[in-house]
Amino acid sequence: MKGVNGKAIDGSKKKWRVLVTRRIPRAGLERLEPDCDYRVLAETGVPAQADVVRAAAGVDGIISLLTERIDAAVMDAAPGLKVVANYAVGFDNIDLDEAARRGVVVTNTPGVLTETTADFAWALILAAARRVIEGDDEVRAGRWRTWEPEGLLGVDIHGAVLGVVGFGRIGQAVARRGEGFGMRVIFHDPGRPGSIPLEELLRTADIISLHVPLTPSTRHLIDAPRLKLCKPTAVLVNTSRGGVIDQDALAEALVSGTIFAAGLDVFETEPLPPTHPLARLKNVVLAPHIASASRATRDRMAVMAAENLLAVLRGETPPNPVVGGSAGGSRNDAD
Ligand code: GLV
Ligand code: GLV
Repeated sequence: MKGVNGKAIDGSKKKWRVLVTRRIPRAGLERLEPDCDYRVLAETGVPAQADVVRAAAGVDGIISLLTERIDAAVMDAAPGLKVVANYAVGFDNIDLDEAARRGVVVTNTPGVLTETTADFAWALILAAARRVIEGDDEVRAGRWRTWEPEGLLGVDIHGAVLGVVGFGRIGQAVARRGEGFGMRVIFHDPGRPGSIPLEELLRTADIISLHVPLTPSTRHLIDAPRLKLCKPTAVLVNTSRGGVIDQDALAEALVSGTIFAAGLDVFETEPLPPTHPLARLKNVVLAPHIASASRATRDRMAVMAAENLLAVLRGETPPNPVVGGSAGGSRNDAD
């Protein structure tokens, strides 16, 4: 017999059933152990969607990764589902309307990855502007002959204009680093004081860094006409979500010299097929979605996802609700 919060009233503790779609760091799983019977579905790689649906049968909570779609089919499999705790700051992999309709709380992991992600945006800015990967290739391939007055010329970062698109936590952390390089920072984020129109930002910025969540209104925010507004010396960096850029238009812009270079950590389809035109270009730095990938940050994200999940299962307000979980249900920014 069950009492409040799923605890058996005969004194023996009923454990919540939890699906963890893929292995997350130990630090998070340890938090679950006392109160949950949890199952890690995929030890390595991405589980098939059908397996996610099957494994969701009857669970009280799910810890999901950005690689899994948590949609109506998954929620149908778990009629008692109370919470989906995403192990990511972004949550475009979750059908929020379906969750809201069913009273399922959705949470994310904001804040803990802000500085780590901003560091990595800078790794891409510096590598793309100063052609670090091309240089590395030359050295390794034995093509480095001599010091060249005009070899591997890049663009300057110091004193340049940094255009931040999406001025939330991560965008602001990227901007703070830009100040250290003596940059002038401009940003586009409608509704925030100081925001300038996107078109003006694209025309003015030397370095453009994207930090918006992927939503219907930000899909292909950077498309062919907008790329044409950029300076031919501009460097575009994306650590948000691949769908924010029209990737084919970007490949064309990099071929035609519409912009100077790009640095991408996220793609419209992940993994990016190695046959994609982008993978044949030298003036783009490609990374496999690793902006938040430091040991400390990934551990913190695991603990945060577990704590969000446990809070909801205990009937408490979770620290980081995206949908539901507090009076009226708030949506925090996935930026
Ligand atoms: C990673 O992309 C995240 O959203 O945390
Ligand atoms: C992103 O907004 C974060 O909180 O890291």
